[in-house]
Amino acid sequence: MKKYVEINEKIKRFNNSIFVSGDKSISIRCVLLASQGIGTSKIYNLLESEDVINSLKSIKKLGIDYVKLKNCYIIKGFGFDGYKTDRKLNIYSGNSGTFARLVLGLLVNSKNQITIKGDKSLSKRDFSRVTDPLKQFGVNISSNRNYLPVKISGTDFLRPIKYFEKIGSAQCKSAVIFAALKTPGLTKIKAKKSRNHTELLLKELGLPIKILRKKVYDYIEVNGQYNFKGFNYIVPGDISSSSFFIVLTLLSLNSRLIIKNVNINESRIGIITILNRMNANILLKNKKNYKGEITSDIYVKSANNLKGIKCPKSLNSSAIDEFLVIFLVAAKAKGISTFKDLGELNKKESPRLDIAVNFLKRIGVKIIRSKNDIKIIGNPKLEINNNMIMKNFKKDHRVFMMSCVAALTLGGKWKIFDKNSINSSFPEFLTIIKKLGAKIN
Ligand code: S3P
Repeated sequence: MKKYVEINEKIKRFNNSIFVSGDKSISIRCVLLASQGIGTSKIYNLLESEDVINSLKSIKKLGIDYVKLKNCYIIKGFGFDGYKTDRKLNIYSGNSGTFARLVLGLLVNSKNQITIKGDKSLSKRDFSRVTDPLKQFGVNISSNRNYLPVKISGTDFLRPIKYFEKIGSAQCKSAVIFAALKTPGLTKIKAKKSRNHTELLLKELGLPIKILRKKVYDYIEVNGQYNFKGFNYIVPGDISSSSFFIVLTLLSLNSRLIIKNVNINESRIGIITILNRMNANILLKNKKNYKGEITSDIYVKSANNLKGIKCPKSLNSSAIDEFLVIFLVAAKAKGISTFKDLGELNKKESPRLDIAVNFLKRIGVKIIRSKNDIKIIGNPKLEINNNMIMKNFKKDHRVFMMSCVAALTLGGKWKIFDKNSINSSFPEFLTIIKKLGAKIN
């Protein structure tokens, strides 16, 4: 099977409605929390991607059984002390930083040493951001000079901590919240704003969590060692997966798209705010509150009057996984767009800021970079007429999908590697985009 796709023509006008797969962040959190509840949980529309499958396989190694019925996963937990950790175990997280970091929080009471490993990309990502706060709970945790493998041995003498999360990382915040669930007493967290699915789920489960939301920081208090029962959950569509279709539609001619039942948690919709400020006119209709999360249908149509944006730093965290496609829109918009303080992008599955800058330069976009700030000089007439090969050496799923959107909207003859990368977050990507009429071989 070839590892690349070929795209030789732009997508023709389309007018459709689609569903995207379940949200990855919520799917992984549901698997982890279901593995810690007492009794059976039923998770519907769970994302079936490699990151989530690796999460399921890992909880199985920890003694938690699951089965898949027609449209849901049934997971049977034994409470917060229910992992079987009486022998040394290796857990494989694959490409998933979310699973690797969050599960560490749940292993602070493991009875034996558990080793977390990952693929090549995950093994290049910094784990000190979670091992440092977790150490303060009193666990024995070590890494390979801040990288994987990370070894954790839990303790019976956990102590609550005070933690200041300065990066705006939901993975760090959630790892600490999970550790706090296992720890007697009150853990206090001051966290720079980031996605809050963990907090909302804990609230929904009736756990003692208090959240005070201020402008820049959230103040969270978790009281530990309370059990909760298994639960039912229907995972909504993923806004990050939707983003490729949103931008595909905006940059195509005379097209319209409805993306149904997508999670539009405020901490995730930076892309909508940013694109609408660039004149995109994306509408969120049919809003519903589902267990504290907000879902809606996303209405998007071709935009022919896009303008540049001075993107405020306060939107970085809520658009963190979407900047690759946002940059494409900036490249096609009239005027200059500026984005600041995007160092975190280089800490993802691949160094996405570096990759985006190179990519944009290669397709003829004028871009000025100074450290973690970039300025994109937009050109509404941007077209590609050459042959393009996108190697995607780091096999980053979002780099692959962004490149497909560029090829389908800007033209040129493309060979884009590595198509298997989509399996980590959105295996259905190519099937859905072909349904819209994209010619992809
Ligand atoms: C995630 C948090 C973000 C995001 C990642 C998923 C999560 O990472 O980029 O794709 O589910 O908590 P950081 O916590 O590193 O910002």
